[in-house]
Amino acid sequence: MKVQPFPTTLSATTYTADDIDDEDATIVLARSGAVPRMHIIAGRYHILQTIGAGGMGRVVEANDLETGRKVAIKFMQPSSVASPDARRRFAREARAAARLKSDHVARVLDVGTAEDGAPFIVMELLVGEDLATRLERRGPLPWRVAVECMMQACEGIAEAHARGIVHRDIKPRNLFLSKEPDGAAHVKIVDFGIAKDILRRDHGQTLTRGAIALGSPHYMAPEQMASSRDVDQRTDVWAIGVCLYELCSGQRPFRASNVQKLFGKVLTRAPKRLRAVVPDAPAGLESIVARCLEKEPSARYADAAAVRDALERLVRRSQSPWRVLSPHMALGMALSAVLGAAAAGLGTWIASLP
Ligand SMILES: Nc1ncnc2c1ncn2[C@@H]1O[C@H](COP(=O)(O)OP(=O)(O)O)[C@@H](O)[C@H]1O
Ligand SMILES: [Mg+2]
Repeated sequence: MKVQPFPTTLSATTYTADDIDDEDATIVLARSGAVPRMHIIAGRYHILQTIGAGGMGRVVEANDLETGRKVAIKFMQPSSVASPDARRRFAREARAAARLKSDHVARVLDVGTAEDGAPFIVMELLVGEDLATRLERRGPLPWRVAVECMMQACEGIAEAHARGIVHRDIKPRNLFLSKEPDGAAHVKIVDFGIAKDILRRDHGQTLTRGAIALGSPHYMAPEQMASSRDVDQRTDVWAIGVCLYELCSGQRPFRASNVQKLFGKVLTRAPKRLRAVVPDAPAGLESIVARCLEKEPSARYADAAAVRDALERLVRRSQSPWRVLSPHMALGMALSAVLGAAAAGLGTWIASLP
């Protein structure tokens, strides 16, 4: 990624979303035309470099001139700025994420509108990489690490579920493996861009037209493929199952050469058993994944908290030597062993990041 040098003066005051160039992930500072180049938005955030991009937005690193802290700022893609629907979704993301306090959700610090009207969200700056990048770079994770990652992800998603928010786009790209200042590793959920608040009625309207099923095809539950209106917490449970499967096997449970075939498989076929692709995974993990991937939502776990509980029980069981002790002692010792092992596992694994 190229990052062009930024002037340090604070004089420029107009930002346009086009300044962030899609092609080479470079923030373009100098463009011909009457509009002065801008690298400070809302008089406060000094943009440094592009750090991520997805379907709906581009994320940049910036300095908050008021606090002196580095932050991440998500802008809507320039192509979406003009669409009122996209602007509403973006504002919704900000509201949805700002309400969540979990350590496993990227913290929203501020929301605003740039001088040209482009909305943005200011978040804590995460250091590390998203799990899709990690998979591409290093291949599948040991199943215990995958389970630990998804237990943490479930913790963040569970808070959203408890508040009636469905994420609808849970996938490794939206799970960020964050290196905390104290060296601990945390999975944090990013991107509430298509989150849906199922407790609130939008006066009969949905932010996405029912016919357009938003989400990433490989992680979409059967009911989400049919209509984006029919989603609830169990739709995220499906995606959690796909993530678990993919993180420990490096493969997705349903694969096809095009979206139509993929939808056909998701709607009618059972996925290959987890242990056929991860032979050392315990039978309990295979069952948890299979239950997340039940076609009928009522056969899945009710929400992310239920998946987290099931994963926790699995981890506890896999520390079986403690079972010979009294149940009370065994639970305490097993828990501390599990937490220690899991933290050490994820910590060691994180430490291997470049
Ligand atoms: N707070 C953050 N700190 C660091 N990187 C981030 C942060 N938020 C997002 N990213 C990176 O930017 C990418 C795109 O962000 P995301 O919110 O998922 O946008 P989109 O809606 O376009 O998918 C993420 O996959 C992640 O790699
Ligand atoms: Mg994303």
